[in-house]
Parts: sequence; C-alpha cells; structure tokens
Amino acid sequence: MPADTLLIVFGAGGHGRVVADAALASGAWRGVVAADRDAALWGGELLPGVPVLAPAALTDLRGPLAVHVAIGDNANRRGEAQAWAALGPLASVVHPSAAVATSAEIGAGCLLAANCVVAPLARLGAGVIVNHGAIVDHDCGVDPWTHIAPGARLGGAVRVGESALLGSGCTVLAGLRVGAGAVLGAGAVATRDVPDAQCWAGVPAAPLRRR
Ligand SMILES: CC(C)(COP(=O)(O)OP(=O)(O)OC[C@H]1O[C@@H](n2cnc3c(N)ncnc32)[C@H](O)[C@@H]1OP(=O)(O)O)[C@@H](O)C(=O)NCCC(=O)NCCS
Repeated sequence: MPADTLLIVFGAGGHGRVVADAALASGAWRGVVAADRDAALWGGELLPGVPVLAPAALTDLRGPLAVHVAIGDNANRRGEAQAWAALGPLASVVHPSAAVATSAEIGAGCLLAANCVVAPLARLGAGVIVNHGAIVDHDCGVDPWTHIAPGARLGGAVRVGESALLGSGCTVLAGLRVGAGAVLGAGAVATRDVPDAQCWAGVPAAPLRRR
C-alpha cells in the first residue's frame, strides 16, 4: 500500500486497538483513524492520536484510503469488509515484530500481530488474524476469515478451513486439518483432524460437551 494512504480501522474495540497500534508501529500509513457503528464511541480516541469517527464521516475523508476491519468475530469481520469495500482496498496490517517469510502469501485484510511467525510458503486467505505470538509454520494453508488467537501454534502443512477459531495457546500437530467454522478451545492440542463446524477442546482435543 502506498505510504500516502490513510488507514481506516473499522471496529473501535480492544481488537481495534491492537490493529491501530500495529499500524502506527509499522509506519506504513499517512495516518490512522478508527470508525465504529457504536455511536457511544464517536468523538473519543481509540489510542492517543487515533480519533474514532462515525461511519457517515468516512465519506468526508480525502486522499488515498484503505480499510482494515478490526473485529475478532469471523462472521462480523467478513460482513463489515463487504459493507465498506467502496471506501478503499482492504489492507493487511503487519506489526514490525512479526516474522513473515518472504515466500509466505498474505491475503488482503489480514492482521499479523506482534511477535507472530508466518513461515515459508505459508498461505493466508483474506481477513485472517494471526494474533500476538501465534505461529503458522511452513506450508500451512489458512482459508479466509479465520482467527488464530494469541499463542496458538500450527505445525507444518496444517490446513485450516474458512472462518475457524483456533483458541489461545492451542496446538495443531503437523499435517492435520481444522475444518471450516470449527472451534479449537484455548490450550487444546489437536492430534487428529477437527471436522467442519465442530468445537473441540482439551489435551488431546476431543469434541466438547456443551452445557
Ligand atoms: C472451547 C470454548 C469455545 C467453549 O466455549 P463454550 O461452548 O461456551 O463452553 P462452556 O464454557 O459452556 O464449557 C463447556 C465445558 O467445556 C469446558 N471447557 C471450556 N473451554 C475449555 C477448554 N478450552 N479446554 C477444556 N475444557 C474447556 C468447561 O469447563 C465446561 O466443562 P464442564 O461442563 O465439565 O463444566 C471456549 O471455552 C474457548 O476455549 N474459546 C476460545 C477462546 C479464545 O481463545 N479466544 C481468542 C480470543 S483473542
């Protein structure tokens, strides 16, 4: 993205703060502003120097613009990315401490947070979050709108379907598949494939009994 581009961080919650902080630290943008549908947040600051604007005010912004949707929930993130596509291209944000292999493929609108690792030939689809300290090892394929939470670890050649949630500190052993819409609980260790749309947790991970 050209350095004269203003970044709009859509979503002024905690995850928005993480994105705005990474964007400021990267020095890749002319400036960073936030926006949110929640009127209670307008007029304040997401971080010092990052104002929160009403969605209606975004059309007054001038010069090259790009949008990053900073919403942790996968379905909402995807929906808002479609809603704001007319404002500018969907932009990825990469914290300067993220270790990203030159051969990795990063889709539009991804967040690569502080101290994460994206290893050689890994492939991330659009809107993927690789949160603080998470590891996506070599040859992994992560489909769009998936959230890899802080400290999660994917072994080599792991495949993850669309809109999955890999919880904080979980581990997926090399070569396995986590299905589309699946949830792997915090701290879980997946030693087998996790089917689409199922929630697994524990060590070793197994289908979760829901309350
Ligand atoms: C796995 C998870 C999705 C389950 O949520 P849930 O369906 O609301 O589950 P509940 O809280 O009703 O718990 C159901 C049972 O599973 C257990 N459980 C919940 N999460 C667990 C986990 N991560 N590992 C092991 N057991 C877990 C609960 O103790 C409970 O057991 P019980 O019935 O014997 O008391 C959730 O606990 C989780 O780990 N989410 C990931 C959160 C995360 O990392 N987010 C990233 C933020 S950046």
